[in-house]
Amino acid sequence: MQEEARKGNIGIFDSGIGGVTVLREIIKILPYENYIYISDSKNNPYGDKKEEKIIERCEEIFRFLLEKNCKAIVIACNTASSIAVNYLRDKYKNIPIIAIEPAYKMVYDYSYDKETLVMATKGTIKSEKFNLLYEKYDNHKTILLECIGLADAIEEGNEYRIKKYLEKNLGEYKGKVENVVLGCTHYSLIKEEIKKILGENIRFFDGARRLAIHLEEVLEKNNLINDSKENGKIEFIDTAIEVEKREKNEKRFFKLLGGK
Ligand code: DGL
Repeated sequence: MQEEARKGNIGIFDSGIGGVTVLREIIKILPYENYIYISDSKNNPYGDKKEEKIIERCEEIFRFLLEKNCKAIVIACNTASSIAVNYLRDKYKNIPIIAIEPAYKMVYDYSYDKETLVMATKGTIKSEKFNLLYEKYDNHKTILLECIGLADAIEEGNEYRIKKYLEKNLGEYKGKVENVVLGCTHYSLIKEEIKKILGENIRFFDGARRLAIHLEEVLEKNNLINDSKENGKIEFIDTAIEVEKREKNEKRFFKLLGGK
């Protein structure tokens, strides 16, 4: 029975391709697992949606992943985690749920005395969960920036829009911050572009690596590590209605998965 469970899939989802930055870290540590990645691009962005809508979408995705024989589910979206994880953990008690959160505690641990910019969606910054984290680890030198529309531009892969967005919204922080918390999984895809505005010496904080370590610990604790010695499969499912969009996203996803 347990042997069967160990062979189950790991479900992972985001509002689009952003969660690839999380899966990339996970497969470095857990290459022998099989993954099913849901890119909910049909409903992107989550960042400015109502809480009820996000919870409803997360539940639909959860039900789908459970039917696909998932032994654990990773929420690779800060917005969905911030808003829905407590509800989901309460409702789905039999499955380990591992959720990303803005790496603000990492700033507290490694760079407490420095000026810090937290970039995240409006949904994350307004959430109760993030505010508890913020109050607990506040270094009193932190700016919280709701990056409305940025994840959307990244999802679209629109380099011009991303550049203009960053120039307009980050320019004023040049020379004023040293730490940047990438509080949305999409933002880890544009580190170079952010550096161009804020400077080469910016220190990024991103929760993906920490999540991957935690996932391994949780699987171990529950005796759920796949003992296969062959690299696992990765299935990509995009929710877009248009076939071309789905195909384009899939191609981009696998290309990014192989990147740094
Ligand atoms: N990638 C997501 C996050 O980490 C959501 C972006 C969005 O859909 O607004 O918050």
